[in-house]
Amino acid sequence: MPRVLIADNDESLFEPLRQLLLKEGYEVEWVKDGLAALRAVKRGDLDLVLSEVDLSGVSGLELLKQAQELSPRTLGLLIAARGSLETAIEAIRHGAHDYLLKPISANEVVNRVIQLVERRHQAEEVQFLRRRVNRDYDFGEIIGKSKALRDVLEMVKKVAPTQTTVLISGGSGTGKELIARAIHAHSDRKDKLFLPVNCGALPETLLESLLFGHVKGSFTGAFANQEGLFERARGGTIFLDEIGEIPQHLQVKLLRALEAKEILPIGSTNPRRIDVRVLAATNRNLKKEVEDGRFRDDLYFRLNVMEIHIPPLRERPEDIPLLVDHLVQKHNPELKKNFKGAEGAVIHLLMSLPWKGNVRELDNVIEHTMILADGEWITLKNLPPSIMGGKEVLPLYTDNLKEALRQFEKQHIIRVLGQVDQDRREAARLLDISLSSLYRKIEEFGIS
Ligand SMILES: Nc1ncnc2c1ncn2[C@@H]1O[C@H](COP(=O)(O)OP(=O)(O)O)[C@@H](O)[C@H]1O
Ligand SMILES: [Mg+2]
Repeated sequence: MPRVLIADNDESLFEPLRQLLLKEGYEVEWVKDGLAALRAVKRGDLDLVLSEVDLSGVSGLELLKQAQELSPRTLGLLIAARGSLETAIEAIRHGAHDYLLKPISANEVVNRVIQLVERRHQAEEVQFLRRRVNRDYDFGEIIGKSKALRDVLEMVKKVAPTQTTVLISGGSGTGKELIARAIHAHSDRKDKLFLPVNCGALPETLLESLLFGHVKGSFTGAFANQEGLFERARGGTIFLDEIGEIPQHLQVKLLRALEAKEILPIGSTNPRRIDVRVLAATNRNLKKEVEDGRFRDDLYFRLNVMEIHIPPLRERPEDIPLLVDHLVQKHNPELKKNFKGAEGAVIHLLMSLPWKGNVRELDNVIEHTMILADGEWITLKNLPPSIMGGKEVLPLYTDNLKEALRQFEKQHIIRVLGQVDQDRREAARLLDISLSSLYRKIEEFGIS
């Protein structure tokens, strides 16, 4: 049960607020002066401190600052009077996680509290969730909690124990090989070999010889008999990556291997029995390749008995917080760093990026960032500028007060506009400025 401390003496707001929070299942503690609030914070068991700026004894700002030092996992939410932007800036600088400006309804405050606590909770749950995903599916290495990924794992669980050929489709870096390995690891072939072959990386003859083998003297350079991977697998799994790249005449040979369960090494007239399960992956639309005559339809149907499609990362941003945590932990030992994770703002930004290179690209960005940064939490400042791709990132405030105020004002306006779905009239009302001055500011700040 989350514990919230309310520090204020404004009963008109805080009494209804207390009632609402209780209803939401929060434990609420209400103190009316700063010193009592500080004592409560020192216990370290609070999830969130909600404070008014003007407290007796210790100011709201000082309270939140202290809270950050005494109990770093406690969230701070400041309530300030409208027009006290400077105070709000100060608060954010000194460890408040968010602020709200009066007048404000108890409902709005509760919503913000829930939002903050849940976000924090989500971060803390990473560890737990990861364990749970692992337990449900026992796929330790595969991180994520999106419906899309859970569906994929559900499929993996179903097809793994069968002998079925599986076609794994998805963009580059979405985890196709990871999934192929998981299928192998959950099949009764798991103690045999898993042999990945990148069909796009080799010239035709080499690929043919690699897969099917050759006999001595069958082509220039064939100095000895060579056993192909299909044979060498011996009860294991072969993973044909980038299957869309496989040349036409090998497509025929592959089809034969799949159907007859035997192969003919290059230069041999003596077919060999094979016992291998075939998994294939493609980042192309194979069906389209078939329609365009580049890929044989009979082979396509033979491979595509089961298709597992892994959606691009941008379609499952919920996986990003977990992935970031996972990647940070993965890179910590090899980079000799001790990061705990990434700040909320970083996660937020990462969740909004297009990730053309999917998880692999995310992995690279995290690693790159960790190499250059130090500390416990990755901040916006640490991220390589290139990843923003022209996207505006709200700056951390500069030291110049006037400039900081401008930045803050812009950020605040963007946020309020976001709250009301860009309804400018409504935003102007909330901001308590005229519609025309809102337009002027939008223009001035270049807010789109
Ligand atoms: N869901 C995931 N959880 C953890 N790591 C992932 C996940 N998806 C992809 N990765 C990692 O991203 C990288 C790219 O994955 P990979 O399977 O090689 O992608 P693909 O074969 O689709 O190009 C690998 O380091 C892989 O471990
Ligand atoms: Mg791959």
